[in-house]
Amino acid sequence: MSSVVCPALEMAGKACSQADGVSAVDEKNLALNRAYWDEVAELHRESYDTAAFVADPECLGKQVADDFELLKPWLPGGSVAGLGLMHLQCHIGDDTLGWAKLGARVTGLDMSPESLRIARELAAETGLAAEFIQSSIAEAAGALAGRSFDVVYTSVGVLNWLDDLNVWAKLIAQILKPGGVFFIREGHPMAMSLDQDAPVGELRLGWPYFNVGPLLDESETDYSSPTPVTNGKTWAWAHSLGEIIGSLLKAGLPILDYQEHKTLPWKMLPWMEQEDDDRWARYVLPEPLRNLCPLEFSLVARKP
Ligand SMILES: C[S@@+](CC[C@H](N)C(=O)[O-])C[C@H]1O[C@@H](n2cnc3c(N)ncnc32)[C@H](O)[C@@H]1O
Repeated sequence: MSSVVCPALEMAGKACSQADGVSAVDEKNLALNRAYWDEVAELHRESYDTAAFVADPECLGKQVADDFELLKPWLPGGSVAGLGLMHLQCHIGDDTLGWAKLGARVTGLDMSPESLRIARELAAETGLAAEFIQSSIAEAAGALAGRSFDVVYTSVGVLNWLDDLNVWAKLIAQILKPGGVFFIREGHPMAMSLDQDAPVGELRLGWPYFNVGPLLDESETDYSSPTPVTNGKTWAWAHSLGEIIGSLLKAGLPILDYQEHKTLPWKMLPWMEQEDDDRWARYVLPEPLRNLCPLEFSLVARKP
């Protein structure tokens, strides 16, 4: 497949290009992206500190403690105990199992078999009940064969791997029970369009904010550790806030809560500061830049 350089990225000096045809990418993007996620899965067993998660029954994992606080007001009795919870793009399942520690009956779905192998091992090591299903988001409606859930959850680093958010939102609407809630926490599209190579202290736009089609990215190392990766070529998509919210509304999922946050769970810009005394590293923009750009958003929607 040939590709053309995305002008906005070329201007920003990015090693990133845009495909010449969406159908060509359709055939290849899953294979390239799956190879990347299969390769980094084992690295994440260590860099996500799953040993601490397994050893401590009270430890909920990287995201779940924070996300539970945001989701709680929208849950019956403020609890997930006994509820059926689907975790979309669950990766190595640590966060899926965090919800199981809170009493949910959990199912994780991901397209990467290596990620799910580790997820099943972590479930065995913790003794927590969990089911893990291998499927792409595009094929998930078929893979789930009419099953439905009280909660659908997904978080951080998920949307940029998906080409069509209408398919994603329709899936969520389809697998939620009536009255069920959807929660997402994700990198804010505004922050995702920042140029990561900008000089220290400069917030500069370098990536498309709007969806311009598939973008070929090339990483030399894993994002959570300095380990070099061999399958670093991946396809990604930019999704604007309007596209994200619009896809959920179009799928019939009214939004109950929307918040913007000043932290990220990874050091997107090399000069971001780590928040202290947090067990799981959270990064913030240094003052006085902190109020200039949101870093994450979270959103709750409910199926009527
Ligand atoms: C950043 S990870 C998941 C987020 C999780 N919060 C974490 O930090 O590990 C992204 C996951 O999305 C999965 N993924 C990417 N594209 C997908 C697709 N089209 N369908 C299903 N899963 C996909 C990958 O296999 C990977 O496990």
